Amino acid sequence: MNRVLAHTGARFPIIQAPMGWIARSQLASAVSLAGGLGVIETSSGETANCQREIQIMLDSGLPFGVNLPIRFLKDEAMLRYVCESGIRFVTTSAGSPAKFMAPLKAAGITVYHAVPTLDTALKCVDAGVDGLVVEGSEGGGFKNPEEVSTLVLLQAIREKTDIPMVAAGGIVDGRGMAAAFALGAEAVQMGTRFVASAESPVHDNYKQAIVAAAATGT
Ligand SMILES: Cc1cc2nc3c(=O)[nH]c(=O)nc-3n(C[C@H](O)[C@H](O)[C@H](O)COP(=O)(O)O)c2cc1C
Repeated sequence: MNRVLAHTGARFPIIQAPMGWIARSQLASAVSLAGGLGVIETSSGETANCQREIQIMLDSGLPFGVNLPIRFLKDEAMLRYVCESGIRFVTTSAGSPAKFMAPLKAAGITVYHAVPTLDTALKCVDAGVDGLVVEGSEGGGFKNPEEVSTLVLLQAIREKTDIPMVAAGGIVDGRGMAAAFALGAEAVQMGTRFVASAESPVHDNYKQAIVAAAATGT
């Protein structure tokens, strides 16, 4: 048992990344059922649909998380819903988590924030987050223009703080996971790898394009 497993309730330290429209209950429940941690997205902005997906996960009794991408939330409806619905684990991303911390912590929720740089990581530690998703520039999705690789970022953050770290960006298998753990991570978060999985809801052509992509394809 490590700190991320204690925080999430998952059996294995493998987190399925939040991804707009893709990270819904079909994928998240398969990951959580297999012992990892499924995460439900809210970046699609489809408040009612995301709430329905979260309710499916709550009804399943499986451990899971919800992502709140701060800059992309059009109002406070999703934050309120998350605080009131009995969710135990939230990742925040895309913005400062500072103003979200008080309501989330008051609701007894464990909060990890996704960080692309050392500076942001240290600000988040000061803001009182419970852990960090350390997201290198290899990762898929919207990225910070200040590019720092997963390998460099994990080492830089571990040098300055002992906070639990989830490594994200460019990890697809056990070798990448072992490397992340050697650098101090206690879990990995994978996005692209899960987009290409059988349980992912995207078209098969998208999955095949990922499998066929070159190492320069990010
Ligand atoms: C299609 C796609 C959509 C994403 N959407 C989100 C999102 O809504 N919120 C978020 O915090 N991260 C988002 N991300 C980033 C992932 O959470 C994750 O950190 C990243 O995919 C890890 O890198 P990898 O794709 O190399 O595994 C997205 C990534 C992808 C590929």
